Amino acid sequence: MRDILSSEGQDLIFRQARTHNVWLDKPVEDALLAQVYDLAKMGPTSANMCPMRIIFVKSREAKERLKPALDKGNVDKTMKAPVTAIIGMDIHFYERLPQLFPHADAKAWFKDLPENVLEYTALRNGSIQGAYFIVAARALGLDCGPMSGFDNAKVDQAFFAGTTVKSNFLCNLGHGDASKLYPRSPRLSFDEACQVV
Ligand SMILES: Cc1cc2nc3c(=O)[nH]c(=O)nc-3n(C[C@H](O)[C@H](O)[C@H](O)COP(=O)(O)O)c2cc1C
Repeated sequence: MRDILSSEGQDLIFRQARTHNVWLDKPVEDALLAQVYDLAKMGPTSANMCPMRIIFVKSREAKERLKPALDKGNVDKTMKAPVTAIIGMDIHFYERLPQLFPHADAKAWFKDLPENVLEYTALRNGSIQGAYFIVAARALGLDCGPMSGFDNAKVDQAFFAGTTVKSNFLCNLGHGDASKLYPRSPRLSFDEACQVV
């Protein structure tokens, strides 16, 4: 066994992976969604708080519930995607810390913090979990179309009412039509984005 990911694996999750807007008519089984979650959940979070919560929107009824919250440019591709994951975050993540961080009273570190601090802590950790989710989906052969162009309050009302979960971003999932991709936009080089000090 090699101790680095093969170049083909790196291509699959980074170099050749693209953000897709047009979807092939190919279903995504629920068992595959569970496999994606089971990989993504292993990525690290602060105090192992795991604040990400996901609703996989798959049925026509649920897609129609999501539709009014979407920015105009995101409607068509989202309605046509086999699955849209609502990547949410539990602002009261500390309730699960006795289970998730059992060797210390980590709940006590967070439970009395102001809501805005809880929210940005959940956002930081839920967002990196969202990134693990994208990488996991790609590693298992799915294409992704992440989106922040939607009304969070409307999504929260439609899907998370009465809970302490808030939406973070959406991610369409399926098998993308590579023939409909735009040319890849450039990235910042190491020298532009990084310093070694
Ligand atoms: C958090 C996030 C939010 C995004 N929001 C939108 C969106 O609302 N609508 C959209 O068409 N693309 C959206 N994108 C797609 C980005 O523009 C795209 O991932 C980026 O240009 C890189 O494209 P590439 O993966 O094909 O290189 C979003 C991407 C991310 C990660």
